[in-house]
Amino acid sequence: MQSVIPRLTFLVFIFFTKALLIQSQTIHNNISYQVDSIIRLMTLEEKIGQMNQYSNDRKNTGPVINNLNHLEEIRKGRVGSMLNVTSVSRAKQYQEEAMKSRLRIPLIFGMDVVHGMKTTFPIPLAEASSFDLELMTKTAEVAAAEASAHGLHWTFAPMVDISRDARWGRVMEGAGEDTWYGCLVAKARVKGFQGKDYTDKRTILACAKHFAAYGAAIAGKDYAEADISENTLHQVYLPPFRAAIEAKVATFMSGFNDLNGIPATAHRPLMRDLLKGKWDFDGFVVSDWESVGELQNHRVAQNAKDAAKLASLAGCDMDMCSSSYISNLEHLVNTGDVDISIIDDAVKRILTKKFELGLFKDPFCYNNREAELKNEKINNRYRTLAREAGAKSIVLLKNNSVLPISDKVKNIALIGPLNTSKWDMLGNWVGMGKAEYVIPILDGLKASLPKSNITYIEGYDHKTNTTKELPYLSEFDIIIVTIGEKATESGEAKSKVDISIDQNQQSLVKKLKEDSGKPVIVLITGGRPLVFSAMEPYADAILMTWWLGVEAGNSISDVLTGQYNPSAKLPITFPKHSGQCPIYYNHKSTGRPWSADNQYTSRYIDEDVRPAYAFGYGLSYTTFEITTPVMSKKQYGYNENIRIKTLVKNTGKYKGKETVQLYLQDVVSSVTRPVIELCGFQQIELKPGEEKQIEFVLTNKDLGSFNLKNELITEPGIFKLFVGNSSDNLKQTEFELIE
Ligand code: BGC
Repeated sequence: MQSVIPRLTFLVFIFFTKALLIQSQTIHNNISYQVDSIIRLMTLEEKIGQMNQYSNDRKNTGPVINNLNHLEEIRKGRVGSMLNVTSVSRAKQYQEEAMKSRLRIPLIFGMDVVHGMKTTFPIPLAEASSFDLELMTKTAEVAAAEASAHGLHWTFAPMVDISRDARWGRVMEGAGEDTWYGCLVAKARVKGFQGKDYTDKRTILACAKHFAAYGAAIAGKDYAEADISENTLHQVYLPPFRAAIEAKVATFMSGFNDLNGIPATAHRPLMRDLLKGKWDFDGFVVSDWESVGELQNHRVAQNAKDAAKLASLAGCDMDMCSSSYISNLEHLVNTGDVDISIIDDAVKRILTKKFELGLFKDPFCYNNREAELKNEKINNRYRTLAREAGAKSIVLLKNNSVLPISDKVKNIALIGPLNTSKWDMLGNWVGMGKAEYVIPILDGLKASLPKSNITYIEGYDHKTNTTKELPYLSEFDIIIVTIGEKATESGEAKSKVDISIDQNQQSLVKKLKEDSGKPVIVLITGGRPLVFSAMEPYADAILMTWWLGVEAGNSISDVLTGQYNPSAKLPITFPKHSGQCPIYYNHKSTGRPWSADNQYTSRYIDEDVRPAYAFGYGLSYTTFEITTPVMSKKQYGYNENIRIKTLVKNTGKYKGKETVQLYLQDVVSSVTRPVIELCGFQQIELKPGEEKQIEFVLTNKDLGSFNLKNELITEPGIFKLFVGNSSDNLKQTEFELIE
């Protein structure tokens, strides 16, 4: 009897799993059948119309064709999608026009909902510092709920570009420099935006962008070419896109960039062969803004017709804003330059998503939550989440025991205009976020420390980059100064040659320390790693506070006062000098690995080769001891789980959370591999004195890497494993992988 029950349970489980599979297959076949029958009814012009996207008149990030009557074009069935439509009434108006077109095919509405729609959360790079994947899913869920209430079906996010060069302004939009972690973040964000399936009208389609290697722009210059090896492409830049597909991402966006001699939007091996072929991606690809038309500027196309031909053949299904498809594809099909099967395939992919969203059943099914938008305030639950996300994103870089600030501290000087700025807390890509929703730093601090006298002093003018007159400072017990980037300084088209914080801002910190002799706490705002070596010696504590969104002031105060003990870690290296860029922890060994005492090794003569703050670095108000990892065996076979154990102890005075990181090194490999590679992390919260053992489990697949045929393989041999709390603070063990 005993053995019958589990068997029965197992059979029931198999039955239901199969039933579910059959059901989803049936729905899929059904949609496929319906889409095919619509395609059979469509004229060529109507088909090409589906591949055409226009922008509403706001938030343009490129040239706009203004002389078009969008409504008329929609009515004629010459538009498949609109972007940047942000009001339900406008979306309804456009959709109503689509319903007047011959086949009544609904439009799909997209927008860049990157780190929130109305409730602005920390910028993605900041949030990546939390190493809290669940949190990322939750904030994306809220963004989707708010975006769908605005009538949107689709966000152009997450950006999954790996970025190793902080001069590139778009580092703010991604998860940083590590590919393995970037894959996890990509999945977490796609899951948040898309939910389980699209029947839930509080979810939206996600878009993995920018395919591919946009983050490898040479010299960190936006829109510039990426010239990287095939191996680096497969090893570093492609995996997060693959991960997004595993998370069932609905769409992809092709990049602006030239990749190894072919512009990404015309990259047939990448889109047609790899993405839609080998990877079997069943969603659709939208171009970046005007990137089809820009094939002319890349000089691979002589005119818009050539551009349309190259992009459509390469696998780009929808043309964002360049009109190249709508103006030329019909002719190209008629002349036989583009086969009709290319068009049909693109249209099928686009219509399938419209079906899955339920738009064919009810084109207005995302337009009935206008009531939610009437409330001018941010939902309290979302605010609480934003406050938590903010606190979890702040990285403590230095602390000479001056933090946390006790509520007994009487007189605090809060210096710098960023402390009262609301707009600068939002950062770039703000959706429908508004400055008025933001709690600035000054307000947050006053609320957290009601018994202290907080004196706000402007101290600096960001327009002229000069210091303003300062009062007598010795009467203050503590000085907090906020310096760094304003919201306009990182993001698209915000590349910099010098990522140092302005020298006058840095001199202000020095002056504050010298004039007051009091503890100086520096808060840094910004969207990228910044260089601030000149002011570092004068700061008693430094916090990287990024751009944290609507709850910035509260999150920062929570950390300053110890209400939240900082736990974030840098997902991207902070260099000592801009000239070190690109800089990343997982570089190759080289034939002459850096050595402090040997000049003829890989280094600079005018600057240290090491970063200011390493990948994975971040302090807490408490301290942790992580023991040398142990393994029960010295050899493992390919089918065995590889187990690594370590003890973590809170050796300080406060309860706190540590992110224990696991890195590997393949000691000898046929293709060169990085010095170390992140392959695991765990967050653990401990009370003072508390100690816990944690275990990491790896399989041979986790140890693999791409060979020169672009196959993921794991070679036998010795592997070193390292654990610690930063990529530059690790303890090691090793084992042999045997065949
Ligand atoms: C950006 C994309 C964005 C698009 C639409 C482009 O300039 O590169 O990331 O999705 O504009 O706003």
